[in-house]
Amino acid sequence: MTLRAFCEPDVAMVQDLATDPYIPLIGSLPADADPAAALAWIGRQHARLAEDVGFSFCIADEEDRPLGFAGLWTRGLPGGRATAGYAVRPSARGRGVATHALRALTDFGWTFPDLHRIELYIEPDNIGSRRTAEQAGYRHEGLLRQHQEIGGRRRDMCLYARLREVADGPLRARGRVGR
Ligand SMILES: CC(C)(COP(=O)(O)OP(=O)(O)OC[C@H]1O[C@@H](n2cnc3c(N)ncnc32)[C@H](O)[C@@H]1OP(=O)(O)O)[C@@H](O)C(=O)NCCC(=O)NCCS
Repeated sequence: MTLRAFCEPDVAMVQDLATDPYIPLIGSLPADADPAAALAWIGRQHARLAEDVGFSFCIADEEDRPLGFAGLWTRGLPGGRATAGYAVRPSARGRGVATHALRALTDFGWTFPDLHRIELYIEPDNIGSRRTAEQAGYRHEGLLRQHQEIGGRRRDMCLYARLREVADGPLRARGRVGR
């Protein structure tokens, strides 16, 4: 499995993502997107880096067939933080795609020396996403009550996070604290 840039032939997969009732609620992909809307969404993913929003990757299998989406959002990088998000096309679910993609995305995150913490915000009843987070080494840190509006309703979110693993602790390794 690889994480790569989106390209035009991924339109059908993006349309597939748009059939999921939840995915259009948590991003800019319109529900039941037609090919033009899916292509426009791909164009917006390409703009994320230039806009300093972060990295939007297509998850692809060994034969480069697109399976989903994984994003690392880096606006918090000056504070040492990033957030991640992911979605897998319905036909590819339940065989470890999200788990592998989140592990790869996390490894990619640690290539930024200033990144110390990657956060995930997951609804309590999204068991598939919570299991994905746990399988990728993220720890549940607590419940953020009415944290954000999704689909016109304030929703509680579980906060998951992974920290950079360094032998001597994250801040000391950067030479900022400690004796
Ligand atoms: C959540 C999602 C990304 C999971 O993708 P996936 O490729 O099927 O996940 P994996 O196959 O890697 O499964 C990871 C774990 O979750 C479990 N799981 C997956 N879907 C599940 C479900 N619907 N209910 C319960 N457990 C589920 C798997 O069994 C596995 O756990 P295990 O290793 O203990 O058996 C996918 O369902 C999806 O795209 N959902 C819509 C978008 C979304 O919710 N994104 C996350 C927003 S926070």
